[in-house]
Amino acid sequence: MLEINKIYCMDCLEGMKLLPDECIDLTVTSPPYDNLRSYNGNIEQWSFEKFQGIAKELYRVTKQGGVVVWVIGDATVKGSETGTSFRQALWFKDCGFNLHDTMIYIKNGGINSGSLNAYQQKFEYMFVLSKGRPKTINLIKDRPNKYVEDRIKRKKMKDGTYKEQHFKTEPFGTRYNYWIYDTGSGKSTKDKIAFNHPAIFPEKLAEDHITSWSKEGDVVLDPFMGSGTTAKMALLNNRHFIGFEISKEYCNIANERISKIQSIPSNEKPTSAESSIEETNLLDWLDELLVSEGRR
Ligand SMILES: C[S@@+](CC[C@H](N)C(=O)[O-])C[C@H]1O[C@@H](n2cnc3c(N)ncnc32)[C@H](O)[C@@H]1O
Repeated sequence: MLEINKIYCMDCLEGMKLLPDECIDLTVTSPPYDNLRSYNGNIEQWSFEKFQGIAKELYRVTKQGGVVVWVIGDATVKGSETGTSFRQALWFKDCGFNLHDTMIYIKNGGINSGSLNAYQQKFEYMFVLSKGRPKTINLIKDRPNKYVEDRIKRKKMKDGTYKEQHFKTEPFGTRYNYWIYDTGSGKSTKDKIAFNHPAIFPEKLAEDHITSWSKEGDVVLDPFMGSGTTAKMALLNNRHFIGFEISKEYCNIANERISKIQSIPSNEKPTSAESSIEETNLLDWLDELLVSEGRR
């Protein structure tokens, strides 16, 4: 039996087979994209058939009402996008998942990529898949409303009398389903070591999905853990995690990142808002803590 709050350095298909049915509340992950990167040679094992097996396992281990967030983009081969992302989304539906939302992750920054014949590629898909209706939904409300009102209006009734009605608009509405994150060195995370991995997603992206689709104490899975972003943000938001990563080198990076969090008692962890908005301060804060405890 596997333990939670650990990253297992192994193939995720083999790893997930060791998990019991319906034990995962949320998966936040990003698999290899076609053959875009070699990931230390491990990509040779990647294929659509391999993906199909993983998707079936994800359905089995996901709790009823659990969610899978699948962050994915396509390679362009001989001038044509592969469309793998759509094929994968449809296969997830064949497995039994609902396609709850097709969201867009817009990369603000990083290096420009693409051909001279097409517009710069700046987004990826975030397929939000659910096993039945999502059991936890905490939509983020941080979009400023254009018109904010809090007033009493007099409405004329059919009989000529007037009735007072209270109109109130909240200052912030629900976020749209395209999310924009600053990317590139020093932006996706302040952990320099993470950039030894070639394809990390921003910490804030992981955090925003974790808080949207899970609650404290839930178990968050990342079968393609890479540099450990999902694990780190799960811990900082008082969730458990479990993960798999096939490359030993990336497992070491991930373990180094999360060891800094795991050693801190939970009541001393920065709150999620502190950790995401004031991410710059996290390492300073850890430094201060270690110094004050005489560990540095
Ligand atoms: C897109 S990266 C994930 C990056 C991660 N989201 C982060 O922020 O660091 C995909 C990762 O999947 C790993 N990988 C590829 N095939 C795998 C497999 N069969 N099982 C486990 N990990 C695998 C690669 O080594 C790579 O680190």
